[in-house]
Amino acid sequence: MRAFLGLALAMAGLIGQSFAKPTIAHAGGVDDIIITEDNILNSTTVRGGEGAGSISRIKAAQAGAFPIEVHNNFDSGMFMYITGRDTSGTPVLLGPNGQYVYPQADNTGVPKEITGDIAIPLNPQGQTTTITLPQALISARIYLAHGNLKFFTVKDGNGVSAIVEPSAANPLDPSAEVQWGFIEFNYDGTFVFANISFVDFVGIPLGMGVTLASGEQQTVQGLMSGAVNNICNGMKAQTAADGSIGTDYA
Ligand SMILES: *[C@@H]1O[C@H](CO)[C@@H](O)[C@H](O)[C@H]1NC(C)=O
Ligand SMILES: *[C@@H]1O[C@H](CO)[C@@H](O)[C@H](O)[C@H]1NC(C)=O
Repeated sequence: MRAFLGLALAMAGLIGQSFAKPTIAHAGGVDDIIITEDNILNSTTVRGGEGAGSISRIKAAQAGAFPIEVHNNFDSGMFMYITGRDTSGTPVLLGPNGQYVYPQADNTGVPKEITGDIAIPLNPQGQTTTITLPQALISARIYLAHGNLKFFTVKDGNGVSAIVEPSAANPLDPSAEVQWGFIEFNYDGTFVFANISFVDFVGIPLGMGVTLASGEQQTVQGLMSGAVNNICNGMKAQTAADGSIGTDYA
């Protein structure tokens, strides 16, 4: 409950003036989904940039298949979801069997929940889970969640099945009661770009590292353990002091 409140508070800070008070998020249904450019992965999505929190354009240790290792310092009951575009530009999710899952939207224009096998369970706290991308994955995100997230599909303007991802800014998002965060990356088959994304919102403290072809490591530490609660407590104290949450607390 505390973590869930924490996520809601971090979101309230992010969108600033639209919430006068800390808002507790409640998971809504399909009708509550709000699609913005931040939570749609369609056939033309381009993501990625460079700057704070990013590891930019480094050569992967091996060409082709790309191994991802996730060390779970957080808790048991963690899941990973990986979204991105395959080499033909089609939105996909990585299944726990290491194969891409292609969502199939219908023609109603209403987002349909993706019910295929897309949740990759993480090994318990203190352990590492390894999964390998079979090929390049562009405009990709690795979602890490304490519980299960909901992804939906809807046809984009090209008639391609796009992926509607959880939204950190919608307090009625169907995944709003789950604590989650993501790392963005782009792997074109040779070079990797990655971005820890904590510039936008905080749901779960994440750090990342990339191993270079030389064996050398590049790492971004991310936030400290307990950071989400500390940020939220700071926002609560500010609200108690002056009745408002400024964007400084995002
Ligand atoms: C990292 O990704 C986020 C989320 O898409 C984006 O808003 C942000 O600008 C990116 N940050 C950098 C430094 O590229
Ligand atoms: C993909 O999503 C972006 C952001 O919402 C939108 O601008 C673009 O038109 C979409 N592309 C297609 C093919 O629908």
